[in-house]
Amino acid sequence: MTGLAKYRIAWLPGDGIGKDVMDCARLVLDQLALDAEYVPGDIGWEFWKSEGDPLPQRTIDLLKQTDCALFGAITSQPGEEAEQALAPELRGKGHAYFSPIVRLRQQFDLHTNLRPCKAYPGNPLNQRDDIDIVVFRENTEGLYSGVEFFPLPQEVLEVLSAHHPSMAKFEKFGRENIALSARIMTRQGCERIVTQAFDYARKHGRRSVTVVDKPNILRETGGLMIRTAREVAGRYPGITLQETNIDAQCMWLVKNPQDIDILVAENMFGDILSDLAAQLVGGLGFACSANLGAEYAVFEPTHGSAPKYAGQYKVNPMAMLLSARMMLDWLGEDDRAQRLEGAVAEVIAEGRVRTYDVGGSNTSLEVAAAVAGKL
Ligand code: IPM
Ligand code: MG
Repeated sequence: MTGLAKYRIAWLPGDGIGKDVMDCARLVLDQLALDAEYVPGDIGWEFWKSEGDPLPQRTIDLLKQTDCALFGAITSQPGEEAEQALAPELRGKGHAYFSPIVRLRQQFDLHTNLRPCKAYPGNPLNQRDDIDIVVFRENTEGLYSGVEFFPLPQEVLEVLSAHHPSMAKFEKFGRENIALSARIMTRQGCERIVTQAFDYARKHGRRSVTVVDKPNILRETGGLMIRTAREVAGRYPGITLQETNIDAQCMWLVKNPQDIDILVAENMFGDILSDLAAQLVGGLGFACSANLGAEYAVFEPTHGSAPKYAGQYKVNPMAMLLSARMMLDWLGEDDRAQRLEGAVAEVIAEGRVRTYDVGGSNTSLEVAAAVAGKL
């Protein structure tokens, strides 16, 4: 030991195959000889079941003492199933499950979810080899703000009815039969995410940014997003702003994916767009992401926890390896980041070592070892 490592990185495997893919990341990071200390943290379903909290306070405290976090995957289930899963002594005590990754994004104000969807030539799952889409998803507000009601409280019903004629048609159902999820968007939130997209465009020589929403129907929230995007675009001469509706944009993604550059959207629309875009370049096994704030960042593959494969080292680790690459980028480790991406691209191009989703029979660790071998 030669004293303190350069970086302290929180190590959060989470649930299911989270640990499998984190082991793969570790293999590659060690090969790159990153000067880091990896600090394990508790997060996920296990801690929900045993403590009634999938993101214990001790984990939040730990993250505050690290530079950034690498995160595996999380199992989430709807309310009733979650309650049933609790240890008997915790049931009926008012514990409410809320996705810990969504909470992390909100708690650390990780406003930008950056999701590159790039085709690496040689991947047989690519829809085409010339796709290079980058999705900027607003990560802390919008429809995933977490402001929800069921049943609808009387006071909320009264306020809504007093302020909006459209509420009249719901009153007859009774508030005990009405669920409400609020789509809350702020000018600051819209400005932040659109600015990130334009900054990225400028830095990477991209020609256009497309803001995706549905302002003809969601007039207030969608309207705010589009107006704010126009203001921001005014500060970036030479980069075109395009405006599309979410439904049409999904169609064009399938139709002309090679023409699409940078997409920026509110939380739920960005969530949907990023899965769709990921599928064009190999699916969730290749989809990486970064949750970025001003001071902190969490890097994670977009995929879920695939409980049925947990511990089998069967799933594709590329999404995780590319997420680790984004982490290296963010840390300013440009050279290591580039080498890692190059190694991933090479292994994909050769096509000799592949997990089942790509038609191969190699394990996650074999794929990671192949990547490490190229470094
Ligand atoms: C994602 C996932 C998460 C999200 C879930 C697991 C909460 O779908 O990162 O895209 O919706 O943000
Ligand atoms: Mg998603």
